[in-house]
Parts: sequence; C-alpha cells; structure tokens
Amino acid sequence: MRKPFIGGNWKMNMTISEAREFLLNLQNVDLFSKNVETVIFPPFTSLNALKVALVERGIKLGAQNMHWEKAGAFTGEISPVMLMESGCTHVILGHSERRRIFGEEDSLINAKVCSALKQGITPLLCIGESKEERGQGYARRICAQQLEGSLEGLSEKDITGVLIAYEPVWAIGTGENATVNDAGEMIAFIRQWLGKEYDPETAQKVRILYGGSVNSANAALYFAHPEIDGALIGGASLNSEHFAKIVKIAARRKEDAI
Ligand code: PGA
Repeated sequence: MRKPFIGGNWKMNMTISEAREFLLNLQNVDLFSKNVETVIFPPFTSLNALKVALVERGIKLGAQNMHWEKAGAFTGEISPVMLMESGCTHVILGHSERRRIFGEEDSLINAKVCSALKQGITPLLCIGESKEERGQGYARRICAQQLEGSLEGLSEKDITGVLIAYEPVWAIGTGENATVNDAGEMIAFIRQWLGKEYDPETAQKVRILYGGSVNSANAALYFAHPEIDGALIGGASLNSEHFAKIVKIAARRKEDAI
C-alpha cells in the first residue's frame, strides 16, 4: 500500500511568529503517526525558523517553489541547494497559482522537476484543469498535456520519486471541492496515463493526491477512496487544530487497511 501523504501549503500566509505559534498549538503530536508522511510548505522566510521544531514532531519541511539552477544571476529566486540547506525535503512545483499568475509553463516546470530530482528534493507536481476546460469536456486532455510537458525525460526510477497532486483550479480556495468520485476518476486516469507512459507496475508506486478545498470535515471521504493517496491542503492547513485532525484521519485510513 502506498503511504498516505498530507501536505500543508501555506501559500503567502504566516509570518515567522505566526508560524511558531501554529507549532505551539499543534497538539497531540503523537497523532502524527509514522503511517503518514506529513509535510508543511511555509513561505521561504519561515523555513529556517521551523526546521528543528517540525522535525521533532515528525513533520517534514517543504518549499512552495524553486529555481532550476543551483546559483546565479536570478534576482528574487531561490535555488534547490539553498532549499536543501534550509532543511527542505520536498518542493511544490507547477501549482496552478504559479501557472496562472506567474505564467509558468510546462517546459519551465519540467526543468524544475528535473533539477529537484537531481538535487535529491522530492517534487510535488500539481496539475489540474480550469472550470471552463472541465465544462468543455477537456479535463483529461489538459491533465495529460500537463503531465506530458512537466514530466518529460523522467525515467521509471525518477517518476517513482515524484508526488503528483490533482488540483482542479476551480476547487482551489473556493470551497467548491470536487466530488470524491470525480477526484477519484481523474486520479485513476492519471495513473492510467503513467501506466501507458511507463508501465502499470511503476504507476502503482506513484502517490497521487487530491487538492482543492479539503478540510477536516470532508477529508475522510477522499481518503476512503482507494485511488486517492492523500491531499495537498491550503486554507485548512493554516489552522493547527484542523490540520492535526486531517493528519489523524489519514493515519486512521492506513490503520484500517492493515
Ligand atoms: P485549498 O488550496 O485547500 O485552500 O483549496 C489547495 C492548494 O492550493 O494546494
């Protein structure tokens, strides 16, 4: 069974002092069972401040973006080497906000995915269609295009080291979450795509998450679906109580399955 994954994407929220307070309030750390891989993705400014406290709680640290080069004249950018030194094990790449607001395209995201793998950071690749694209019946086609462009050149070994999050753009931060069936179907489609591109056995090893208005009230429904390996959580990850509850729900799914 694939290990459940819960990511807390804080986006451009939480100052260093707010982040510290979040951790102080993160009670019952024993809830963070070894059965769930839990990663918090704070803004760059809080990485160092959270590093030790997170590890003590069995939580890993991730970044929300990175440049593909190790160093150089790229004003305003952060390199994978800097992320490693700050204690990051994971990095979100291709989030729809990066694609939509900052114009990131698949070829650029592909360069970042390859660079992260090379540096030993686990990329969490986000893909997903817009509301319009879904309405036109193009959801699968768009996701396949994004997969093809963002994963170009990756070997079988590489792909098993990538996490994929299906995040329909219309469900992010809107409270309009995808139904469990729709999310499960799209994730099954992504796995099928991986099976064709690589092989079915390799596809079974890749963890695929759902993201888009997941909260402590609806998480159990998603985690009960056999195709959904966890969630990338935005808004609800800013509340320590809700976030802890979601991780606990994911841990319970694993215990149930044993
Ligand atoms: P949301 O964000 O949970 O607030 O919808 C998810 C994401 O952007 O990863």
